[in-house]
Amino acid sequence: KRAMYPVLSLAVFWLLPLALTLEEDSPLDCRPRRSVPYRSENAQRFHEEGVFNYSTMLLREDLDLLVLGAREAVYALELKDISKKRTSVKWEVTPKQKDDCRNKGKDPEMDCKNYIRILHKTEDDRMYVCGTNAFDPECDYMSFADGTLTLENKREDGKGKCPFDPFQRYASIMFENNLYSATSMNFLGSEPVLMRSGLASIRTEFKSSWLHEPNFVSMTQMPEAMTSTIGDDDKVYLFFSETAVECDCYNKLVVSRVARVCKGDLGGLRTLQKKWTSFLKARMDCPVLESQLPYIIQDTYRWCDPQQDWKDCLFYAVFTPQSDTSDLSAVCAYRVSDISKVFAEGKYKTPVTVETSFVKWVMYSGDVPVPRPGACIDNEARKEGITETLGLPDRTLQFIKDRPLMDQVIQPIGQKPLLVRRGATFTRIVVNQVQGADGEKYKVMFVGTEEGTLLKAVNYDGEMFIIEEVQLFKNTEPIKILKFSNVTGQLYAGSDSGAAQVPLATCERSSSCMDCVLSRDPYCGWDKAARKCTLLSSSQGELIQSVKDGDASLCPDADPVKPLNKSIWPMGNLKLDCPPPSNMAKTNWERDGNHLTPADRLQFLQDGLLILNASQSDAGQYRCLSVERSKTSEHTTTVVEYQISIHPAGSGDGKAIYPQAQTDGPSVAGLQAAIGLLVVSLLALLTWNFYKGHLPLPWNCGKKKGEQSLDQEGLNSHVSYQQAPRSAQEEDKPVVVGRDNGTSNNNHSRGEAAVGAAEEENNASGVNLPSLQFIDDESEI
Ligand SMILES: *[C@@H]1O[C@H](CO)[C@@H](O)[C@H](O)[C@H]1NC(C)=O
Ligand SMILES: *[C@@H]1O[C@H](CO)[C@@H](O)[C@H](O)[C@H]1NC(C)=O
Ligand SMILES: *[C@@H]1O[C@H](CO)[C@@H](O)[C@H](O)[C@H]1NC(C)=O
Ligand SMILES: *[C@@H]1O[C@H](CO)[C@@H](O)[C@H](O)[C@H]1NC(C)=O
Ligand SMILES: *[C@@H]1O[C@H](CO)[C@@H](O)[C@H](O)[C@H]1NC(C)=O
Ligand SMILES: *[C@@H]1O[C@H](CO)[C@@H](O)[C@H](O)[C@H]1NC(C)=O
Ligand SMILES: *[C@@H]1O[C@H](CO)[C@@H](O)[C@H](O)[C@H]1NC(C)=O
Repeated sequence: KRAMYPVLSLAVFWLLPLALTLEEDSPLDCRPRRSVPYRSENAQRFHEEGVFNYSTMLLREDLDLLVLGAREAVYALELKDISKKRTSVKWEVTPKQKDDCRNKGKDPEMDCKNYIRILHKTEDDRMYVCGTNAFDPECDYMSFADGTLTLENKREDGKGKCPFDPFQRYASIMFENNLYSATSMNFLGSEPVLMRSGLASIRTEFKSSWLHEPNFVSMTQMPEAMTSTIGDDDKVYLFFSETAVECDCYNKLVVSRVARVCKGDLGGLRTLQKKWTSFLKARMDCPVLESQLPYIIQDTYRWCDPQQDWKDCLFYAVFTPQSDTSDLSAVCAYRVSDISKVFAEGKYKTPVTVETSFVKWVMYSGDVPVPRPGACIDNEARKEGITETLGLPDRTLQFIKDRPLMDQVIQPIGQKPLLVRRGATFTRIVVNQVQGADGEKYKVMFVGTEEGTLLKAVNYDGEMFIIEEVQLFKNTEPIKILKFSNVTGQLYAGSDSGAAQVPLATCERSSSCMDCVLSRDPYCGWDKAARKCTLLSSSQGELIQSVKDGDASLCPDADPVKPLNKSIWPMGNLKLDCPPPSNMAKTNWERDGNHLTPADRLQFLQDGLLILNASQSDAGQYRCLSVERSKTSEHTTTVVEYQISIHPAGSGDGKAIYPQAQTDGPSVAGLQAAIGLLVVSLLALLTWNFYKGHLPLPWNCGKKKGEQSLDQEGLNSHVSYQQAPRSAQEEDKPVVVGRDNGTSNNNHSRGEAAVGAAEEENNASGVNLPSLQFIDDESEI
């Protein structure tokens, strides 16, 4: 069996990059239907000059406040509109603290500041706040009264509550004035703990089988005692990743974990004194592709139905790959009852020494002491006369001290992710449930990314669908915190440069019924009477919505599109804009009712059509059609229409007739008629131009070029969500291009087209490996 390990490491380090080059687009990979670029009006924003790292948030719905922690400052913002600051308080490090920090070898400008990391509400409605305080964490109480925030200067040691290092991840919650925190206790960051501070302080053992180089992610509590039939206790769940002790592989392998402790835990009497007696952990799996390195947990969101028992609560978690060989991110969901069952009934793992010093973790199949190790004090224990953990027998405590890891791996609902996305790395998640027009309840995932975007996605009966991706922050910077208030119905996101607030849905982004229905947003529907896409919750009338199928055939016929007039010189270039209404739509072009195919002189760009070296035959009526496939059918709409005329280059003596639109079919007679008409109109135009002195003379080029570069800006515009094409009126300018053969234009647009193509088929990576088993399943001895 050992002979396999070199093979494994070989596989990891050589096969993965190799696999990259062989990889094909995974069917799991899901693209957003709509990309919304950064716009200042997309969100309410807050940021203060010179202040960074807005990464801690506390919703004080009782005070209508969002309390926002940044570097050396705490802000109290209006919950309904965070661009309105109510008040703030500074918490800066003293020069001495800064010197001490610098003397310990830390960067004075980056590390030796006070990063606010913990903000919790206390039972007396004050707040508990902790900061890294130049690598010397401190906590304090803070109150909000008469419109001001006040730090009470009751400084408390923050060791074990708040990280020393501002770059280190941590987790904490406050419950009944007890702070549960997971962070590092020392300056070096080498003593990780899960700790409860308060009257009965208690923490984890410093043992690598308990916590091994962990990265803490999140923490939440679960009120399990209330409805328990066995007299169980409330729990605190901790999510983190750590280096696997149980992996017998040469290379470091990181795995995702969930751990839980009982709130009533007081530690043991002799064994595990002031340590958790109920610390149990298990591996969490989010199988993105079969047999790959395990994905790493980055954030979780607890979703509970207020009408249901805690057992029906779900944990949504975002995962990212542990090597750079993949750029997929995923969301998996877990049932609390599944996790709880593993801890309550599952088998334990136990270390076994094989050969001389090699330790292997295998399933424990011997006798398990009673009371069950790691269990909360329940009715059965009470019957035995054990009413608190201090009364637990040594046998139980010694067992759990050595074996906090469960054997079973926790699998997500459906054994697979709800969402997989290539590219933008997921950082944070919030989930909200909404009732659609069909009466069904949908869970909508809002996922923050490293690039400063917010994804909105739903899994419709196994089908992943990303409704949109909104660029929340101007720079591509990670979303560091994401919160949801069910009082305001708003999402709050924080990054290094600021905070942003957005509603759950912006239905007005769809201006047509078809777009509204195809967006499959369960919050939005098309109001036939008002002729706009509106929020379900704010509308009384019947709305058109089809979230599962995207069936836009229910839509009334769209208004006819008014053609825009454009003209072009012979041998000139012209771009006809046609931004597709969605990333899922393909655009097609018709000229005079005939389907166009791309050619050397007719280039199909992602957001338009490029006519190069125009000739007389290019005149006519151009129609840009967008075709979007939904589950039920293909939906075609006219995005924009252009009436193109060719300005003649020579002179003639024809009558002054303008070219007319040609909508005939492809009949020879029609063509002949069209050509005849074109010739006539060409001559007419020439005459007219000559008469009016509009003949293209060399000194006109500069001007024409100027106009051309204007047009090129349109060319540069990205294919993404845009307003509907410009209105007809502003379009009738004498467009276009001089007689420069369009070489530079040509060059430019080719590059642009190439970029578009690369975007479209992003075949960059993702791994499809042959079966590689990293976590050994040979658990039984
Ligand atoms: C704080 O923000 C600055 C500026 O964006 C960034 O460079 C730095 O990495 C951030 N620090 C932490 C600890 O996140
Ligand atoms: C918001 O959620 C809390 C629980 O987190 C619940 O008690 C409250 O009723 C909810 N409020 C609304 C308006 O839904
Ligand atoms: C433009 O088209 C004309 C014929 O219409 C052709 O003679 C000329 O070579 C073309 N120019 C370029 C640069 O392709
Ligand atoms: C385009 O030109 C035609 C005549 O050729 C005219 O009837 C129509 O109003 C023009 N359209 C616009 C939008 O100016
Ligand atoms: C047009 O192209 C031809 C051949 O490519 C070249 O000789 C001529 O100089 C070009 N004219 C202009 C105005 O760029
Ligand atoms: C064509 O594009 C390349 C690369 O984008 C650029 O280096 C070159 O100068 C361009 N040529 C012209 C004639 O614009
Ligand atoms: C996609 O693959 C083709 C060849 O298969 C390659 O030429 C191209 O550069 C790849 N594109 C990207 C974005 O990796």
